[in-house]
Amino acid sequence: MIPSYLVDFDLSSLPVVETDVLVIGSGIAGLFTAIKAGEERRVLMITKKSLLESNTRYAQGGIAAVIAEDDSPAYHLQDTLIAGAGLCRSAAVEALVNEGPDGVKELIRLGTAFDEENGVLALTQEGAHSHRRILHANGDATGYEIVRALAVEANEHPGIEVWDEHFVIDLITDHGECIGALVQKADGSQVFVKAQATVLCSGGAGQLYRYTTNPEVATADGVAMAYRAGAVIRDMEFIQFHPTSLCYPGAPRFLISEAVRGEGAVLRNVKGERFMERYHEQLELAPRDIVARAIVSEMEATNSTFVYLDITHESTELIKHRFPTIHETCMRYGLDMTTDWIPVAPAAHYMMGGVKTDLSGESSIGRLFACGEVSSTGVHGANRLASNSLSEAIVFGRRIVERVLTLPPLAPIRYEHFAGGIGRKVVAEQRPVSERRLRLQKMMVRYVGLRRNGVNLQGAMEQLQHELHYFDQMLTQREEMEYANLLTCAWLVTTGALHRQESRGAHYREDFPQRDDVVWQKHSLQQREQAIVEELMS
Ligand code: SIN
Repeated sequence: MIPSYLVDFDLSSLPVVETDVLVIGSGIAGLFTAIKAGEERRVLMITKKSLLESNTRYAQGGIAAVIAEDDSPAYHLQDTLIAGAGLCRSAAVEALVNEGPDGVKELIRLGTAFDEENGVLALTQEGAHSHRRILHANGDATGYEIVRALAVEANEHPGIEVWDEHFVIDLITDHGECIGALVQKADGSQVFVKAQATVLCSGGAGQLYRYTTNPEVATADGVAMAYRAGAVIRDMEFIQFHPTSLCYPGAPRFLISEAVRGEGAVLRNVKGERFMERYHEQLELAPRDIVARAIVSEMEATNSTFVYLDITHESTELIKHRFPTIHETCMRYGLDMTTDWIPVAPAAHYMMGGVKTDLSGESSIGRLFACGEVSSTGVHGANRLASNSLSEAIVFGRRIVERVLTLPPLAPIRYEHFAGGIGRKVVAEQRPVSERRLRLQKMMVRYVGLRRNGVNLQGAMEQLQHELHYFDQMLTQREEMEYANLLTCAWLVTTGALHRQESRGAHYREDFPQRDDVVWQKHSLQQREQAIVEELMS
């Protein structure tokens, strides 16, 4: 069984650091929430690497918001609901589409320089959006520009203290509320951070899979620690695979933005045939899950490990101006996208499920909030619409802070509840953790990837069950704890995928290929020590 804490500890003997708001993670959700909370409260922001390393940093396409005259929140709402395949929470989507534009203004006020054309914000289009509503920065370096601007603000903010290279091991709960977290410093020593409110902004779980567009830090830490703490976790079976990551010998699975297709790039199989007309009327701009599965079908039909993305019909000038980062990265591997077709294949990209929250971003545990990819606000449903994630982070970050400001003081902590643990032993490690991680990643691609079936999912469950003894040993290194978090998340994703006997959005079951709204238009909820349950749509 997955334990409630990863390590044994005695809270009363640990140094205590007190803060009003503890923010865990430093992508757009963490930075924005910290800055807003810092206007009124003392904030401690903890990041396991640095302010400049997060999933946000690598976001290319941009941030979706209704800006254009011919666009409206109603269109954005409709596009999001269609992509979400019947599982979005409409009140959450309404918040996103109505409050997103103000959030964008706030980002601009905080120093983000979005690209402009003729003196107005430049907007592009991405898959399944009916209008041009994607803002971008420096062409295809939107995430980096946002993180840069917000990191400057956070570093200069007198109300915000930043601890980088610190690892949050576990959340601490008492009286059914989150009272802070157990944190490991770079030198291995531990400290209890006591907080009036704790906000998980720790991102997603791309590292569950061998092929991912996510950086090394995306190891599902937040969702795993919230699960251990007893929070309700929702819809974990829905993992989005981005259709186009670079697939070239020696190159990383670098993201080739959907905006490239938004600017007219087409997909071709290795025989050079354009194929999307056989799969969807929106062609290359169909929802991501459809494009990703179409690519895999073409790869199989042609016995190839990739397909091509072709934007060679566009001018060299436009390509270099709109996609400088992608162009430069491809050039490093000898691929010139102005003249060459780019070999691409799908890769794990985004976790739609996560820690279930209400419309104020609060989880099922009092004083514990979740924002950004780690959360399940209900915005994304079964399949996230491109570029909605950055908007979600700023809309719900602001809502979280509003709620945090209303919290009464914490009750006195019962330190005696936290002495001891389950008596873990140092176990002579049979296999290095890096090897275990790779094995897990390969298994997830094979059995719990883009296309799933009951037999493979059952096989995955058995392998995971066997690996659960990993939690019995004393973990001391960050890599070991990250692996334990990945294992926890793999368990949640696989359990959800086995449970849902239909295909919907990003979850595709070969043995149940149809969407079944009569039986399955429901969320799946998982909580430690309880069987998976279904939640009716609200
Ligand atoms: C992309 O640029 O294609 C990624 C944008 C997103 O995932 O929202």
